[in-house]
Amino acid sequence: MKDIISISDFSKKEFTDVLAEADKMHSALQKGKALDTLKGKIMAVMFFEASTRTRLSFESAMNRLGGSVLGFAEPASTSMAKAETIADTVNTVAQYSDVIVMRSPFPGAAQLASEVSSVPIINGGDGSREHPTQTMLDLFTIKKEKGRLDNLKVAMIGDLKYGRTVHSLCKAFNNYFKGIEFTFIAPEALAIPNEFKKGKYHETGKLELEDADVVYMTRIQKERFADPTEYEKLKSVYKITPKILETMKKDAIVMHPLPRVNEIDWRCDSDSRCIYFKQAYYGVPTRMALIQLALRGGK
Ligand code: CP
Repeated sequence: MKDIISISDFSKKEFTDVLAEADKMHSALQKGKALDTLKGKIMAVMFFEASTRTRLSFESAMNRLGGSVLGFAEPASTSMAKAETIADTVNTVAQYSDVIVMRSPFPGAAQLASEVSSVPIINGGDGSREHPTQTMLDLFTIKKEKGRLDNLKVAMIGDLKYGRTVHSLCKAFNNYFKGIEFTFIAPEALAIPNEFKKGKYHETGKLELEDADVVYMTRIQKERFADPTEYEKLKSVYKITPKILETMKKDAIVMHPLPRVNEIDWRCDSDSRCIYFKQAYYGVPTRMALIQLALRGGK
């Protein structure tokens, strides 16, 4: 084990195990306990697309586990600038590390990397396709904050067409959990693709959040638009404000994978239901669990 390319790569047991292990890591972090389970192991990061949370929380996770990190966040500084292929780059980095975390703007890139790599590949996001480790931390967040992963009303808002975090989270809920009711809130041009419309769902263009237990806001992704004028038309379509918060349940949670641009008013940050920075923290214990899973048994 184990490449982590798609959220569908996980069995139900692995889901349960990763979430339980993430909880142990969270407790250890809260107690300030030093862990050195991965002492002597090296994680490489290969980021071909911008990132703050995914790369740095993976690096933090590996450091917290006593391992070390090498890699790049700027491919122009590698020999790819001399026309080396991604396949050769991955194959080379695999010679220097025990596990690779990779982000690419191209859907399917992580899968291709896993086919040439001699060490496990963890997908840190591949274009608009998937972001499985974000989903695992989103589920961990929901479990911690709501106490359950079944029987939830989940509102997904924003760029549901290109949003890979939305795609992976829908897959996880559809495949592994019961009693989920989705409200997909998006402009027509950014509607959720049909493959994710399963179980109980309803689609709307309006910001209707009164019933939601989990509000999952996303950014309109400028970088995925072929036509910049289309982005300009849609970029400010939804915004959560203190007034919108007033319409929501008292025990709802507002999540966002971040980065945000202007889709959540900064004045909302002090509302205890707005947990997106806590969600970003939960990325560390979750990724500690995932790195250990990927390394268990090698490839
Ligand atoms: N949530 C997320 O993937 O954030 P970054 O793009 O900053 O890694």
